[in-house]
Amino acid sequence: MKNIGVLTSGGDSPGMNSAIRAVARTCAHYDIKCTGIVRGFQGLIENNTKVLYTRSVRGIINRGGTFLYSARSDEFKTKEGRKQAFKTIKENEIDGLVVIGGDGSFTGGLIFMEEHNIPVVGIPGTIDNDLYGTSHTLGYDTALNTATEAIDKIRDTAISHHRLFLVEVMGRDAGFIALNTGLAIGAQEILIPEVNMSIDNLINSLKRSKSAGKTSTIIVVAEGDKTGNNVFQLADTIEEKLPRYEVRVSVLGHMQRGGSPSCFDRVLGTQTGITAVESLINNEKGIMIGINNGKINKTELSKAIKGKTKINQELLRMSKIMNT
Ligand code: F6P
Repeated sequence: MKNIGVLTSGGDSPGMNSAIRAVARTCAHYDIKCTGIVRGFQGLIENNTKVLYTRSVRGIINRGGTFLYSARSDEFKTKEGRKQAFKTIKENEIDGLVVIGGDGSFTGGLIFMEEHNIPVVGIPGTIDNDLYGTSHTLGYDTALNTATEAIDKIRDTAISHHRLFLVEVMGRDAGFIALNTGLAIGAQEILIPEVNMSIDNLINSLKRSKSAGKTSTIIVVAEGDKTGNNVFQLADTIEEKLPRYEVRVSVLGHMQRGGSPSCFDRVLGTQTGITAVESLINNEKGIMIGINNGKINKTELSKAIKGKTKINQELLRMSKIMNT
């Protein structure tokens, strides 16, 4: 390995900068050139690169977003696009590639590796936490704290007005953010794509909470949950069936992807960035560098993508106990 490329792809997440910094500085430590690729796989197609020295990555560990920028590249999904991207690899004499991203980015990275025989190592970077082989993805911890803080604020106004709030948090296909923030803020119910909660069950739960004397209520809804199609329709249905409830909807949206990374995400980015470079040096490829019980865990990229981490159903059960 004389030159290692690094890119961030797909939805950005807090902690990506920490991983980029670790990759660049570990390369410097081992006297390897580090090539940063700007705007993910799209930048690889467009030969948009810059050399990363130790000092190039100073002052970024505490910054949200990604200093290399990110993109979702449709062109890279085509054979022609990947051929063009490989030209950049050749021209810049890149020997191995670190891909920081989620499910879609790893799928692209894996195909690229198989087609062009370039070693690829992945670092899990997504707030959704939906990759197998790691208890945490970069940005997940920060997003949990951001969402929790935001919902605490919503609770203040919910209490003042005796209202029911449906708060939608991110998670297109996964309920990790909803489940944990739901438990943290004391939600009446938590709706996630992995578990089908019928409208009838939800209505019964709300009736129970009213008769138990609750004056304000928060329901946390994962973006990908399908109870009532979407959060706004769900609000209409509740108001129809329970006219005594004054319902409001709040969609937290992309604010959950921003902000300064938590201590946990900075440490995780550092650990995974260093290990990614060392893995490439040791001729390992096609793996994702994750973490389990505080220890580095390596998983084949193909498994990380397909075998989704199971949601902790026990947390749902506990949430119900808290709301009896
Ligand atoms: O980063 C993952 C994610 O946060 C999903 O939960 C969400 O659906 C998606 O990104 C939205 O991202 P974008 O607006 O960038 O397409």
